[in-house]
Amino acid sequence: MEKIALVTGSTNNIGKAIAEVLAGQGFHVIVTSRHGEEAKKVSESLSRKGSWFAVDFSEVSAIEDLFKFVKEKFQRLDVLVNNVAYTKNESISDCDLTTWEYTINTNLRSYYLCTKFASEIMKGHGGGSIVNVTVSSTRGVKDKFSYSVSKGGINSLTMSAAIDLAPFHIRVNAVGSGLVGTPVGYREFVDRPYNNQRIPAGHIGEPQDVAEAVGFLVSDRAKYIVGALLPVDGGFNISL
Ligand SMILES: NC(=O)c1ccc[n+]([C@@H]2O[C@H](COP(=O)([O-])OP(=O)(O)OC[C@H]3O[C@@H](n4cnc5c(N)ncnc54)[C@H](OP(=O)(O)O)[C@@H]3O)[C@@H](O)[C@H]2O)c1
Repeated sequence: MEKIALVTGSTNNIGKAIAEVLAGQGFHVIVTSRHGEEAKKVSESLSRKGSWFAVDFSEVSAIEDLFKFVKEKFQRLDVLVNNVAYTKNESISDCDLTTWEYTINTNLRSYYLCTKFASEIMKGHGGGSIVNVTVSSTRGVKDKFSYSVSKGGINSLTMSAAIDLAPFHIRVNAVGSGLVGTPVGYREFVDRPYNNQRIPAGHIGEPQDVAEAVGFLVSDRAKYIVGALLPVDGGFNISL
């Protein structure tokens, strides 16, 4: 039986690496992005050819359409990885309601809706695994106001959903990324310095580092891990 994995925001950087790792683990991966052509290209490039769906995760109806597609086409969903994120560099003083709502809707609300809709499908066939990609930071972050708040919410969402869904054999966990690849939302910014002495490991991470942690958490090797937040940040957060 073919196992199905859905990765939100998976045409670039961390999400794309997660899609590749899961395809390597034998999953049929559904690649998603706002841009269908890009999602199609990535889905066809995977080691095990996947599917794709164009969806804007800031829109409730678009998320509903995505899960209708999953249910009709596959009748099952074994893995959901919530990865999509939007960020704007703003302080609380500069954060207007439009930025607040767009960030919270894209990040926190999409994780809530995707977890809810995915778990409804998973309950129908005996369980599954959900991983939320968040930040490793447990502290306030300067000029990242709405993004930091959304990620704090995702950390709480992970634990509460983990408790609610464990009786249905659905494990919910999170991976907390540190600085990795290009900064989130800056597809075109490719010259982020690799070496960084503020990180105990001495350098920023690669998308593959986060993807491997996700691959582990969705596997049976992690079958007793429930509600965990696994930092993948070269030791950055513990050293601050
Ligand atoms: N990179 C880092 O240093 C870092 C650090 C800490 C945490 N993280 C977390 O890691 C995750 C991935 O970050 P990343 O840096 O890999 O992001 P990224 O490079 O900006 O990629 C984001 C992906 O999501 C898609 N996307 C963005 N907005 C979307 C929307 N509204 N609807 C549908 N798809 C959308 C993008 O494709 P389209 O633009 O084509 O839609 C792209 O595939 C995020 O949760 C982020 O918070 C990253």
